[in-house]
Amino acid sequence: MTDTFLKQGEIISFIGRTDLTEALKRYETPFFLYSGESIINRYNFIKQFIKWKNIKIFYAMKSNYHPQILEILRNEGCGIDAVSPAEVFLALKCGFTPDRVIFTSNNSTDEEISEISRTGVLINIDSLSRLEKYGRKYQGTDICLRFNTDVVAGEHSHIQTGGPKTKFGILLSDVEKVLQICGKYSLKVIGVHKHAGSGISDKSKFIQSMKNLLSIALKENFPDLKFIDLGGGFKVKYHPEEADVDYDEFGETAGNVFKEFCDNYGRQLSLYIEPGKFLTSEAGIFLVQVNTLKKNKERNIAGVNSGFTHLMRPVLYNAYHHIINISNPDGELRVYDICGNICESGDCFAVDRLIPEIREGDFLAIMNAGAYCFSMASIYNMRPLPREIFFIKVNLNLAI
Ligand code: LLP
Repeated sequence: MTDTFLKQGEIISFIGRTDLTEALKRYETPFFLYSGESIINRYNFIKQFIKWKNIKIFYAMKSNYHPQILEILRNEGCGIDAVSPAEVFLALKCGFTPDRVIFTSNNSTDEEISEISRTGVLINIDSLSRLEKYGRKYQGTDICLRFNTDVVAGEHSHIQTGGPKTKFGILLSDVEKVLQICGKYSLKVIGVHKHAGSGISDKSKFIQSMKNLLSIALKENFPDLKFIDLGGGFKVKYHPEEADVDYDEFGETAGNVFKEFCDNYGRQLSLYIEPGKFLTSEAGIFLVQVNTLKKNKERNIAGVNSGFTHLMRPVLYNAYHHIINISNPDGELRVYDICGNICESGDCFAVDRLIPEIREGDFLAIMNAGAYCFSMASIYNMRPLPREIFFIKVNLNLAI
């Protein structure tokens, strides 16, 4: 066995542009290809659709922490939503100042909290237990509080983070207990936060969870508020035939709700949002090569040189990722199961998928691979991580 088989993923970045033909000539599959330009476009779009002048964006870096992506977002003025000490440290290392990072803790240890508090990054606390322990140790400091706004939203039960079944957030009905602890330790609540789920297609649920959060963000409860943080969850289109989300209409409603809130509060607060998928999902494609065709009774199986260890969303959330046969885009349509090289039956990128005829050696492009793909990868079965290649401009003209 050579070292190649054990090699970890490589991170490669280019300032220039590429297209698929060029990338496939230069790099062996499997690899992720990211377009910086796509992320910048999405950033500029999300910044303007919520109609509020003081809006700040904190990129949920868990969706993709490629350093070049962090760098372009930093240059655009974006902040960071971090959920582990390592994410905080990477953000700081990539040049984000502590005031541009928020750490949302969930079941963190005392040690982790003291490490983060030494950095000066604001901590978003999501349980009464942590609030009590934090207050005892860090009296008189600024904090943010995460609430469970009691709305169940998101594209799969694993990624719904509100309502009666979630582990996240402080119950809205516990606000009196929160006030009592904050009073006891003179904690200054400068922000309240919610994140209802990922891939929220029903905008009315997003607005409802926003209203529920605002219902406890009263001046008599929290007189020191500087911001309200609505979390992430902005849905992106995974299926080409899916309708586009009308974000302008949504942004208008959110802006009006927030204006009314601020008028009552008596101060124009900042509005924070924490998109992950919205910024990075469409910016990435994953390139794999077919090495085995086989038939199991009626099933056409196309086996590729990667597996759920590299892109696990289909297995974990039954997620749809569009797949294009870039080597034979005009081939006759046939139905395939596109399966990986991992020793588990569920290891398929797609089942019963209509796709132009696949031949051994063909390259397939798996779309929407920029968010929660490489960042959730593992080396299960001792399969090495794939390369991640970043270009500022990628020509996504897929036919090669
Ligand atoms: N803020 C907080 C506190 C979060 O927990 C998350 C995501 C976000 C923001 C960003 O959510 P987004 O805008 O990306 O939906 N692995 C799953 C998604 C898990 C999301 C976890 N938290 C997936 O592949 O669909």
